[in-house]
Amino acid sequence: MSTNEIIVANNVYKTYQSKDVKVEALKGVSLSVNQGEIVTVMGPSGCGKTTLLNCLSGLDEIDSGEIIIRGSDITQMTDNQLTNFRGKNMGFVFQAYNLLPVLSARENVELPLVLAGTSQSKSKNIAEDRLDLVGLADRYTHLPTELSGGEQQRVAIARAFANDPAIIWADELTGNLDSKTQDEVIDLIRKMNKDNNQTFIIVTHSDEVGSIGHRTIRMRDGLIEDDGK
Ligand SMILES: Nc1ncnc2c1ncn2[C@@H]1O[C@H](COP(=O)(O)OP(=O)(O)OP(=O)(O)O)[C@@H](O)[C@H]1O
Ligand SMILES: [Mg+2]
Repeated sequence: MSTNEIIVANNVYKTYQSKDVKVEALKGVSLSVNQGEIVTVMGPSGCGKTTLLNCLSGLDEIDSGEIIIRGSDITQMTDNQLTNFRGKNMGFVFQAYNLLPVLSARENVELPLVLAGTSQSKSKNIAEDRLDLVGLADRYTHLPTELSGGEQQRVAIARAFANDPAIIWADELTGNLDSKTQDEVIDLIRKMNKDNNQTFIIVTHSDEVGSIGHRTIRMRDGLIEDDGK
């Protein structure tokens, strides 16, 4: 294993069982990602991209295989250990933004910081800084319902960046953004990657977003068809 590998997956299988239908969503996926890489994941609807993100980040359990992140096999962790590990190392921008509806934009971004033990005043400063980065300096106190879809997504992006996580997982990162905001988010990712050497795994259907990757992983039918190396 090269010391620069931040994510290693070996032979990962994931089956969903719902009622009488069994779906083999991942059929033995192996990959590795180096620290500081931007990897985009592309492939047809239903091929397993979201499942891959959910499994590699430990949000969902796998049937078999190994997932080693920063040297630790996350499949061997208890729920508490995993929650802690995710909080320290990972940020998420998912299709459903999962913003808490009763919290303002700023409070949503503060949440992961406060949970990680950062003081209230420091959390507030960092949250405002992140919201400024995504162009929401004048929306700190808006509730999610008082923001447009693209603005909500930008709050989710600001939140994912709050803790300066080593790894950021993004599913359909720019799905709801107009082209100007999409370009700003792309610039932001490039900047975070360059300044902080953060690793990005970005699922996208957009060729434009796909092109920001140092490489593109192409999936088909639960398998990696081409890892872009
Ligand atoms: N919770 C679930 N229960 C049962 N089947 C599921 C579940 N989640 C996903 N699937 C199935 O697993 C397969 C992979 O789904 P996944 O969401 O990973 O696809 P995707 O590549 O992200 O697609 P899209 O581009 O449409 O978002 C699909 O066939 C889907 O129907
Ligand atoms: Mg998906």
